[in-house]
Amino acid sequence: MNGSYQLQIGYNTAWHFAAKAHKDQKLPGSDLPYLVHIGWVAGEILIALRHESVSDSTLAVQCAILHDVLEDTAVDYDTLCKEFGRKVADGVAALTKDAALPKDQRMRDSLERICAMPKEIGMVKLADRIANLRPPPGFWDGRRIGEYADEAQLILDKLGPVSPYLRQRLEIKLMEYRAKFSNQSA
Ligand code: NI
Repeated sequence: MNGSYQLQIGYNTAWHFAAKAHKDQKLPGSDLPYLVHIGWVAGEILIALRHESVSDSTLAVQCAILHDVLEDTAVDYDTLCKEFGRKVADGVAALTKDAALPKDQRMRDSLERICAMPKEIGMVKLADRIANLRPPPGFWDGRRIGEYADEAQLILDKLGPVSPYLRQRLEIKLMEYRAKFSNQSA
């Protein structure tokens, strides 16, 4: 079985699993299915893999597709481990914020855990933020928008080195986001 074939099977299995897990969720502030977000993140990773090689492309793609199932659905670590193996489950766990921590510590904590993982996991976090730098919800004031941009900068600082391609993508998206939205006020 060649690499592309294996990657395609891995993609399809994860996609079907994520589609079921996120079935009833919508993209925040929209009536589109949440799976749209998952498709954006997976797309960023697939294009990045055309520019940069990683040691385990199936790990990168499956973690991209599954990155929100522990945080946002009823799926647990053991199920993920059983279906996709320990490497994928550990990657998704690192990408999951710890709800037991105070809110303002969750991102830094997750980033530290991501930094201890293979670089494929850091790439997923970069791709996630690229996909999330969209027009902010109407109820966000200028301060909240600024905080979101600062958080994207923190992700860039911590994880940019794992992927020159995604770093550049996120730098451009962040610049556009600040230019378009950071002067908005409530
Ligand atoms: Ni996400």
